[in-house]
Amino acid sequence: MADFYNLKVADIYKETEDTSVVTFDIPSELQEVFKFRQGQHLTLKADINGEDIRRSYSLCTSPFENQWKVAVKQIHEGKFSTYINQKVKVGDHLDVMSPSGTFGVNCNPDNAKNYLFFAAGSGITPVLSMIKTHLAVEPNSTCKLFYVNKTAKSIIFKEELEQLRNKYFGRLEIYYFLTKERRDIELFNGRFDDDKMKVLTKTFIDIPDTSEVFLCGPEQMVNFVSNYLVDAGLPKELIHFELFVTGLSEEDIKRAERLAKQNVEGTEVTIVDGGKEFQFTMTKEYDNILDAALGAGADLPFACKGGVCSTCKCQVVEGAVEMKINYALEDKEIAQNYVLSCQAVPTTKKVVVDFDV
Ligand code: FES
Repeated sequence: MADFYNLKVADIYKETEDTSVVTFDIPSELQEVFKFRQGQHLTLKADINGEDIRRSYSLCTSPFENQWKVAVKQIHEGKFSTYINQKVKVGDHLDVMSPSGTFGVNCNPDNAKNYLFFAAGSGITPVLSMIKTHLAVEPNSTCKLFYVNKTAKSIIFKEELEQLRNKYFGRLEIYYFLTKERRDIELFNGRFDDDKMKVLTKTFIDIPDTSEVFLCGPEQMVNFVSNYLVDAGLPKELIHFELFVTGLSEEDIKRAERLAKQNVEGTEVTIVDGGKEFQFTMTKEYDNILDAALGAGADLPFACKGGVCSTCKCQVVEGAVEMKINYALEDKEIAQNYVLSCQAVPTTKKVVVDFDV
């Protein structure tokens, strides 16, 4: 069920000029529902000028802090980010869905892992949650963060990161890269490119000793860095990412065009959600399972409808579907028949999908 809870804004402050950090008050009876793993996100919903708008924002706190905070960066002409940054104040209420998302790996106090993080701008939010959690829970693990921002002033959570570096001295290394301000050391100027990655993998990164890599930022950065690390010998399954989509690739456009021609009319779809089954027949009007199910009256979780946030994730248990776009699921999830329902086009005449997973 796409349950939203009306939560009170306990605090809101400007972390940088264009980024507000919102803390939600979670009443004791909802603390169990709002339990989360580091790297997960909250989906927020608001009626803005008569329009139902939803956005997902990663929690920047760690589960053991018992706080629920998200950072919302103002996007140019972004309806939701403008609303949060300019209108919302302490004491207001927002509709919030319980935490979801699969970014992040389980912690274990016995782990002695070396984690690498690459983040750009507000991509720091899930990364901060992970760094805090792994350092606190796994005393023998280390973290290295490579963090790109435009200017020193626009570095989100700089103060908190510095405090963590002091607290976990020797176990957390942080390297800042600036794209619109020059620094004395050339390596730290500009985005990750071939030259930079060559130096990083020779001096700061020990590939055979790396346990997991997490990337969060624009698609171009995420793809470039992960391809570079794989070419340098890092197994692909150790790389996890969450990205901001800036535009569709040629390949995505072609696949979406091909799937738009798929004849889905008459497909019998069964949705399993909350232990109950909901059945409907697809019409020409919709090409994906989520929209068709919503159109038929189902109440299912979703946020971006763009294949990015994974809020609409489900598992195909019968029949087959193909996804138009997938920016959220990893190969191992796809191998287990997980799909993004907002992108799932049925390719068989009967499909059963399970949202209780
Ligand atoms: S709603 Fe975000 S991936 Fe489907």
